[in-house]
Amino acid sequence: MRNILLQLDTDSLPSSFDAITALDAGAEVLLPYGGVTPERAVGLVHGAIFTRGPEQLHRTAIFIGGSDVAAAEAVAQAVTKAFFGPMRVSVVLDPNGSNTTAAAAVLAVVRHVPAPGPVLVLGGTGPVGSRAARLLAREGYSVQVGSRSLQRAQRVVEAVLLKYPKARLQPLETAGADALRSALGQVRAVLAAGAAGVQLLSQEMWQSSPVELLIDLNAVPPAGIQGVQATDKAAQREGKVCYGAVGIGGTKMKIHRRAIARAFEQNDLVLDAEEIYELGRQLDS
Ligand SMILES: NC(=O)c1ccc[n+]([C@@H]2O[C@H](COP(=O)([O-])OP(=O)(O)OC[C@H]3O[C@@H](n4cnc5c(N)ncnc54)[C@H](OP(=O)(O)O)[C@@H]3O)[C@@H](O)[C@H]2O)c1
Repeated sequence: MRNILLQLDTDSLPSSFDAITALDAGAEVLLPYGGVTPERAVGLVHGAIFTRGPEQLHRTAIFIGGSDVAAAEAVAQAVTKAFFGPMRVSVVLDPNGSNTTAAAAVLAVVRHVPAPGPVLVLGGTGPVGSRAARLLAREGYSVQVGSRSLQRAQRVVEAVLLKYPKARLQPLETAGADALRSALGQVRAVLAAGAAGVQLLSQEMWQSSPVELLIDLNAVPPAGIQGVQATDKAAQREGKVCYGAVGIGGTKMKIHRRAIARAFEQNDLVLDAEEIYELGRQLDS
């Protein structure tokens, strides 16, 4: 019996990144499907759970990816709903690398700044930033969710509060320099999860702030946090601890591979942000 991974991608072309990582992580056979919707997923799930006996089902697993997190979440819901009794396989959810990247970034925060922080997440409305905000809030951090739109930031805050009603989060509109400067005076860490190639924070601004930790997840020049190098991994710059996208990326890849390997150990896991973060924590300890 070989380890078979169904790669369900909501994009029309399944991600080559997710495919290669899956094969490196121990999937022996990869079945990639693109353009997966909740309706289409059900037949694929039936094909996966009815071909092997319950005692062999841990050798089949499902990875759900794609650039649209909400679409991937809807597929995940349909997938888990199609399971019944022992007829199920483990599922890993990592659309756009959001869970694995957020987990690696939050582990870096935990390493350097204890809760409650506070922490400012720039680009906090994207797949990675919103997951990072959720994980930080769950860890007891006080989180400012930054966005160019207060309304979009508020939506992320509300989504996290639905899951963790006692979480401490605030939306922050970062379009104006004054709001950003004022926030920098109050937080101990900044996690920049803005779009690729977009600078969100100038060096002049962070240099003169009391912030202790800077994490930038953008690997495409210019850097999201000016002055932070992509390869930084706990590098000291102007008295701040700095991580760049490549510095975080190594941990992200380890977590991603571990999540796939874990899915082949038993047949009843659903690995979403929190479960993936816990795997990362075990690797980190
Ligand atoms: N290091 C790694 O291993 C790794 C892995 C995956 C991803 N990444 C990187 O992590 C970052 C976050 O990924 P993602 O998919 O969550 O990003 P994303 O969805 O492309 O962008 C995140 C947020 O950035 C803001 N934004 C977009 N365009 C902007 C602009 N022109 N000016 C200012 N803000 C802008 C948007 O927030 P508002 O519109 O609300 O302001 C958006 O929600 C990316 O840079 C990605 O390349 C790194």
